[in-house]
Amino acid sequence: MQTIVEDVREGNGAAIAQAAEILRAGEIVAFPTETVYGLGASGLDGDACAKIYEAKGRPSDNPLILHVADWHMLKEVAREVPPMAEKLMIAFMPGPLTLILPRSAAVPDRVTGGQDTVGVRMPENPVARSLIRVAGIPIAAPSANLSGRPSPTTAAAVLRDMEGRIPMILNGGPCRYGVESTIVDCTGDVATILRPGAITLEDIRDLLGDCRLDPGLREGKAAPKAPGMKYRHYAPKAPMTVFVGEEGAVEEAIAAEAKKIETAGRSVGLLGSRELLLKLSDVVPSACSQSYGPRGDLETNASRLYSCLLAFDGLPVDAILAEGVEEEGLGLAILNRLKKASGGHVVHV
Ligand code: TXA
Ligand code: MG
Repeated sequence: MQTIVEDVREGNGAAIAQAAEILRAGEIVAFPTETVYGLGASGLDGDACAKIYEAKGRPSDNPLILHVADWHMLKEVAREVPPMAEKLMIAFMPGPLTLILPRSAAVPDRVTGGQDTVGVRMPENPVARSLIRVAGIPIAAPSANLSGRPSPTTAAAVLRDMEGRIPMILNGGPCRYGVESTIVDCTGDVATILRPGAITLEDIRDLLGDCRLDPGLREGKAAPKAPGMKYRHYAPKAPMTVFVGEEGAVEEAIAAEAKKIETAGRSVGLLGSRELLLKLSDVVPSACSQSYGPRGDLETNASRLYSCLLAFDGLPVDAILAEGVEEEGLGLAILNRLKKASGGHVVHV
């Protein structure tokens, strides 16, 4: 199959109409959102959704989320909207938020993995919004990467994973946030974050007074409630270790580990702040390192994270040593992705 890339950065009604037609015909299209690129199919068509699993190589027990254009469409796929969900919708939708709600009968089992709940998201990216509107149906869309790989934040990254597997990619430029939406389970007594994202724990606590983190997000704890969070994920090809703790101690620990690896004749790549890369430039050559931006600038760090992880696949590194960030605000989401990308290889210093 040939994969066409259409530029929609300046708006391109004809390309969006063609993509909507492809979706309505039961085929899949990759499109930009404000978080990461999605791999879309008609969310009401189980056979179309099956093609997403095939293109991604996704385990069949991992449910899809539905993207809607407005509240009317959201109410068609949810049987009920609990009061906490309505508050979250008013405060943060459209935006980088997915709500887990009781599913309606309109949603196929292929989307929910047979569960009684459905994930619903209303993206704010204008291309995503007009695509859903023109198609006139909810769009099921996971991130547009091969299963296990970092989520794509540019059309080029989508093409790398999906060339020949899907008919069309809409290129809307780089994604604003760079990490996937915050997933909030609204089916219990207290709102529970199943996957941290740009809408933070603090944001939700300010709004609702209470919000929990799924215990499955903590290292070595219970299985996560979002099935997708249990897999090694977002991973570059070289093995990665994440260092967390006070910044001076982290710098020393990374420097010591880098020397050890290089003494053994293997090459090291660093992933971290500009400050770290500068400090360790005598230990690790900068050509093998990736900076996620200034230390503490979490928005920049999040938006660059996945392109840094992907860049390592083109570099001659045998091991990646990564600097963690503070576990506050957006930092919770960044650290969660770093830990997953490392397969849980976390060193606390
Ligand atoms: O930002 C995003 O959410 C992106 C863009 C494309 O919208 N999409 C995305 O989809 O990240 P995906 O499939 O890569 O991640 C969705 C996560 C998975 O971990 C899945 O297990 C979980 O949501 N999920 C979906 N439906 C669920 C449900 N009913 N209950 C619990 N978790 C669910
Ligand atoms: Mg994904």
